[in-house]
Amino acid sequence: MTFFGRLPVIALLAVGCAGGASDDTDGPADDPAALNESEIRLLRQFWPLPAVPPDPTNAVADDPWAQHFGRYLFFETRLSTNGEVSCASCHEPTLGWADGLRQSDTLAPTPRHAPTIVNASYQRWQFWDGRCDSQWCQATKPFEDPREMGSDRVAVVRVVYEDPAMREAYEDLFGTLPDLSDPRFPDHARPSHANPDDPLHQAWIAMPPEDRDAIDHAFANLAKAIAAFERQIVSRDSAFDRWAEAMLMGDASGTDLISDEAKIGYKHFVGDGMCMACHSGPTFSNLEFHNVGVGERPWLDPTDTGRVQGILSVREDRFNGIGPHSDDPEFGAIKLDYLVITPEQDGQFKTPGLRDVFHPPPYNHGGQFETVEDVIHNYLDQDETPPQGHAEELLKLITMDEDGIDPLVAFLHTLEGAPIDPELTGPPADPRYVPDDHQ
Ligand code: HEC
Ligand code: HEC
Repeated sequence: MTFFGRLPVIALLAVGCAGGASDDTDGPADDPAALNESEIRLLRQFWPLPAVPPDPTNAVADDPWAQHFGRYLFFETRLSTNGEVSCASCHEPTLGWADGLRQSDTLAPTPRHAPTIVNASYQRWQFWDGRCDSQWCQATKPFEDPREMGSDRVAVVRVVYEDPAMREAYEDLFGTLPDLSDPRFPDHARPSHANPDDPLHQAWIAMPPEDRDAIDHAFANLAKAIAAFERQIVSRDSAFDRWAEAMLMGDASGTDLISDEAKIGYKHFVGDGMCMACHSGPTFSNLEFHNVGVGERPWLDPTDTGRVQGILSVREDRFNGIGPHSDDPEFGAIKLDYLVITPEQDGQFKTPGLRDVFHPPPYNHGGQFETVEDVIHNYLDQDETPPQGHAEELLKLITMDEDGIDPLVAFLHTLEGAPIDPELTGPPADPRYVPDDHQ
């Protein structure tokens, strides 16, 4: 068949079938690693990785001052209840910006496994259940989580208020902080609607609404600076990117930038492995939620409904994109207005991106699998019963056999990006931005 004769088939596959290149997956008989035209065209959905998408709900998302201050805050342990925990405690740069544990355990075990923050800024929803619609909404949560940093928003804002350098950095960016020297502000307070008898909740509701609002505003701004920093933590320029570019540009000298085994893995990825059905797009995540049929584990809560709970939470969240602290509620509404709850969402979790996926094990939302090979075995075997909902029907269409596992793993290794700028892997000496230091 001529190249032109094949076109309609290719177009149909690319548009109509999420599973992708199911025809001619084996390429020419003499070379199992050769790609057919449809497999080459499908590279376009993974390459190039664009800039992180804008977040109009965060006015400082791309501000260098905010990135700098946010980096300081990300590594700052004083913002936790015992002065020992920072965001980096569980998103440690030398551990792939995660912690390598099934469940994080700073103050107490967390219900789920800590994902990496690498490329998290590309995600449409944050957390495994998507209970935040922006990274700044996400960054408000660990401070008050009793298992993570265990503090409260008044105490967090107070640390910044009482430190002259942090206070100056904040006020340069966002304007005056509330006057926390006034004794009308308690030392500790936070809302806790699930637990109204909590003394911290009592202290919170005893504050006048305008003071609560001022604290929330400052707290949200700290989270926005942290989100600005996180937007720089991106994995790009992998061997895969260079190979995909060469293949798409017809540059024959680039065909061997990845091994033949990895090329065979790519063919499984977009073909009989069906991986591309969910791990699609330039971060290798469709940014959506699925139930991949993983069974119970003794360390996990079997009543975890995942996405269902996530939707209920994000709608109510005061720090969501349509809330009083959003810098663009109209933009926020684009996401939130279309959220519906369906029975299918029971037990769904977010599709992780696969660039830099060999960050320390374990894998999946509860650290259910120790190796990437084990993750793939689950897709092939489908012999576990999830505690909530049911495995997606689509998984039954996977026809790849065990021989595909090693090539797939070899392919996933080609997605490892260039090292992240070392300057970003630790805090700046001073929270205030000095442009000369950044040249
Ligand atoms: C005690 C460990 C711990 C600390 C401290 C911690 N995190 Fe996390 N982080 C987690 C866990 C666990 C999850 C997943 C929770 C879930 O999805 O339910 C997570 C999820 C995230 C995500 C979501 C990524 C995605 O792809 O959805 C981001 C972003 C993040 N954390 C950033 C931060 C920031 C910023 C801080 C500091 C303000 C922080 N974390 C502090 C453990 C921690
Ligand atoms: C139906 C959608 C779907 C398909 C098909 C699919 N995945 Fe996934 N993948 C997911 C979701 C969702 C998760 C997270 C599940 C969870 O935590 O409960 C995940 C998790 C993973 C992880 C763990 C990543 C991490 O950081 O924890 C890897 C690796 C992975 N998938 C690779 C693959 C490969 C390779 C294939 C093809 C053989 C594939 N997936 C097919 C949706 C899918």
